[in-house]
Amino acid sequence: MTAHVQVKPSGWGFSVDGNDSLLEAALRAGLALDYGCSSGSCGKCKARILSGQAHRTRHADYALTAAEKNAGVVLMCCNTAHTDLVIEAHEAHGAADMPLQSIDTRVRSVSALGDGVRLLQLQTPRGNRLRFLAGQSASLSLAEGVGAAYPIASCPCDDRNLQFHVWRRAGDAFAEHVFGGLKGGDSVRLEGPRGEFVLNEESRRPLVFIACDTGFAPIKSLLEHAMALEAAETLHLYWIASSPGGHYLDNLCRSWRDALDNFRYHPISAQAVLWQLLGDHARLDECDVYVAGPAPWAQVTEFLLLELGLPRSQLRLDTREF
Ligand code: FES
Repeated sequence: MTAHVQVKPSGWGFSVDGNDSLLEAALRAGLALDYGCSSGSCGKCKARILSGQAHRTRHADYALTAAEKNAGVVLMCCNTAHTDLVIEAHEAHGAADMPLQSIDTRVRSVSALGDGVRLLQLQTPRGNRLRFLAGQSASLSLAEGVGAAYPIASCPCDDRNLQFHVWRRAGDAFAEHVFGGLKGGDSVRLEGPRGEFVLNEESRRPLVFIACDTGFAPIKSLLEHAMALEAAETLHLYWIASSPGGHYLDNLCRSWRDALDNFRYHPISAQAVLWQLLGDHARLDECDVYVAGPAPWAQVTEFLLLELGLPRSQLRLDTREF
């Protein structure tokens, strides 16, 4: 059975299949609801049922008070929807609503993503997942004391399995470990999330994403989140690579393009082509534009976008060292 759940006060909705918990289904749909352990022990995922019936699916160590039960409060990680529901729950509205967390994770795998980029997959403990917004970053460190900050390249809808695109850069000893022998089962300390390069969920404007090289990492997270939310009528991705093979997830982007009617993908190898395509982009001034890449490139891109008439308030930049 599939039930529909509407969340107040935001009005966002999501579907719940079978015995999935309300929390799992909401995260999969891209909603940033409050939660902590995902396992019934912290009480942070409380929601109030305004109409319809929820159904408990697992035991909770956290005890609701009698007054909360009488008011229709349930734990979203331990309940599913028995009928269509309207619930009242708190949602994060921006990076400031995200708590800073420290988590001991394990390496699931390290694999090559073309030349010079590694996909580092980390897994959190089941009861201590990372709550974050798409586009944010985290600091990673090893027992040896080396560490670095990287954008999270995966979607918040999978808060236990986290992806990072690690590239070699001068002075980054953490990257040298990733390229030089970090392996499945090794432990990595994670602290985060940080950063304000997040989706403006209040907006319903068409979305344009522009990435340069590994600036694709936070853009991928934003794109996957926007797809889960069905946040916009159209999604455009311009990805410029400064070296051959630099579109290291080209197949993934092409599969999105083939599967989604509203997704356009433009892999680009020359800066002049990017300028021309942006100049030709229909009604760019009515879009929200997200840009991620090396700072000098991003600054030039920002200048061009403003020259093309994009209002500054519709532009978000991530200009860390990619
Ligand atoms: S998230 Fe901790 S009790 Fe539900």
